Amino acid sequence: MTAPLLSLRGIAKSYGAVEALKGVDFDVAAGEVLALCGDNGAGKSSLVKILSGAHPPSAGRMLLRGEEVRFASPDEALRRGIATIYQDLAVAPRLSVAQNVFLGSELTRRVLGIPLLDKRRMAEQARGFLARLAVSLPDMDQPVERLSGGQRQAVAISRALRWDAGIIIMDEPTAALGVKETAQVLDLIRRLHAEGRTVILVSHAMADVAAVATRVVVLKAGRKVAERPVEGLSADALAHLVMTGGAA
Ligand SMILES: Nc1ncnc2c1ncn2[C@@H]1O[C@H](COP(=O)(O)OP(=O)(O)OP(=O)(O)O)[C@@H](O)[C@H]1O
Ligand SMILES: [Mg+2]
Repeated sequence: MTAPLLSLRGIAKSYGAVEALKGVDFDVAAGEVLALCGDNGAGKSSLVKILSGAHPPSAGRMLLRGEEVRFASPDEALRRGIATIYQDLAVAPRLSVAQNVFLGSELTRRVLGIPLLDKRRMAEQARGFLARLAVSLPDMDQPVERLSGGQRQAVAISRALRWDAGIIIMDEPTAALGVKETAQVLDLIRRLHAEGRTVILVSHAMADVAAVATRVVVLKAGRKVAERPVEGLSADALAHLVMTGGAA
């Protein structure tokens, strides 16, 4: 048997006296869209921060393809193929589309031995990543602050594609979006899934979960209370699962 792509074992997180996570175990298989659900304060974002390298766990182990990993920073997680997209700090608003996609990993070319930013190649590649997401923007040089929320998410996801991240984590990607933009983000997730990438989606929107997730893990007060395939579950059934943890 091959090891799961990602395994969490006994993951706990305390902030002072607050126990946000109390020993969470689950596996993530390659290529699934795993929804992480639960009420406010259940521990979802705490778990995302651990997966993304932003926070160390207080206890527990994380295994990537069966090998234990500890991330000292989000950059380290990114280098290991785990990209996280936060709703609010997903993009740098003043920077251009291409600059955002290549933030911290700019492409350069050498002129007389001197490295210069290769703006043309970055714009071309940024356009290519967006095309894979079926998003076309007229201008790679325009600041991201002029884009819609859905387009910004596409830019943030393009950054994950630039790193060729196999695991893309999204924390409430549609929370601040309107109906049309939400539909666009769900379409982005479907495209990542079709490319064989693994998505971990934190969401309160059960309609979104029903539409794109393959499996759901429910957290409640820092513990996993349910875990099951999403196929055949309506948004209402998912909401019930989150509320009751699957108890009849
Ligand atoms: N930096 C922090 N310092 C202290 N307590 C924190 C911190 N971050 C989270 N907590 C606490 O940990 C618990 C879990 O919070 P977390 O943000 O992980 O929940 P969540 O499931 O993401 O909630 P929401 O749905 O509201 O985003 C909460 O009780 C919260 O108040
Ligand atoms: Mg949260």
